Amino acid sequence: MGDAVLEISNLAKNFGALRATDGVTLDLRPGEIHALIGPNGAGKSTLIHQICGTLRQDSGSIRFAGQDISGLGVAQRARLGLGRTFQVSSLASDFSALRNVMLAVQARQGSSFRFFKPVMRDKGLIDTAMTILERVGLAARARLPAAELSHGERRQLEIAMALALQSKAFLLDEPMAGMGPEGSKSLTRFLDTLRHEAPILLVEHDMDAVFALADRISVLVYGRIIATGTVEEIRRDPAVRTAYLGDHA
Ligand SMILES: Nc1ncnc2c1ncn2[C@@H]1O[C@H](COP(=O)(O)OP(=O)(O)O)[C@@H](O)[C@H]1O
Ligand SMILES: [Mg+2]
Repeated sequence: MGDAVLEISNLAKNFGALRATDGVTLDLRPGEIHALIGPNGAGKSTLIHQICGTLRQDSGSIRFAGQDISGLGVAQRARLGLGRTFQVSSLASDFSALRNVMLAVQARQGSSFRFFKPVMRDKGLIDTAMTILERVGLAARARLPAAELSHGERRQLEIAMALALQSKAFLLDEPMAGMGPEGSKSLTRFLDTLRHEAPILLVEHDMDAVFALADRISVLVYGRIIATGTVEEIRRDPAVRTAYLGDHA
């Protein structure tokens, strides 16, 4: 367990009387895709928000890249390399895809001196951002405002920004949601390569994608992890079949 990139211990969050996450313990290891599945309202998004810091936990702790980040804010966690995408997009929608990625590259470089240089003429910055857009398959859409991209393309753009930030772990909350079968397949292929960059905690309802990608799966039900295991272990688990998989298995 010592070499896990991300270690979550006993994390809990209440909304009033509701226990959204209730003592969640899981880890993310180098090179792996760890899928988090479970019914609607199980607490998956709440957990992702707690990890990236947009929601503060009531109790429990989070270690990332060898340090306790439980008390750090969102920006500090992002700077340490926690790359996340949200169910609701956080892109600057009037800016082009290219500009969004350039902003992420600049954020990583932490360079205020660039304010003296018109960014859209900064060749080095443009090249870096274009290379990243090529990797996620969006180079041809680089000059379009983010608002004009399809849902799937916006997700690809968010991943491009996480790449630009040189993330040490990716937290993806339902990246396939709203995508057609072709989009899901191409994103599945992409995520399979992305894991070599950094491990991925993947919240996803698309079970074809989960079964194709996951090294391990954790199943969250009413804020609690009821099982963690390989794809085969999870498919065979009677409690998981009852609580979630049903005829997916
Ligand atoms: N900000 C909030 N305030 C109050 N209740 C919330 C809030 N966010 C989520 N919840 C509730 O917490 C539970 C878990 O939600 P969520 O984490 O979004 O589940 P999932 O992502 O697994 O569908 C749900 O019952 C939801 O209604
Ligand atoms: Mg959710």
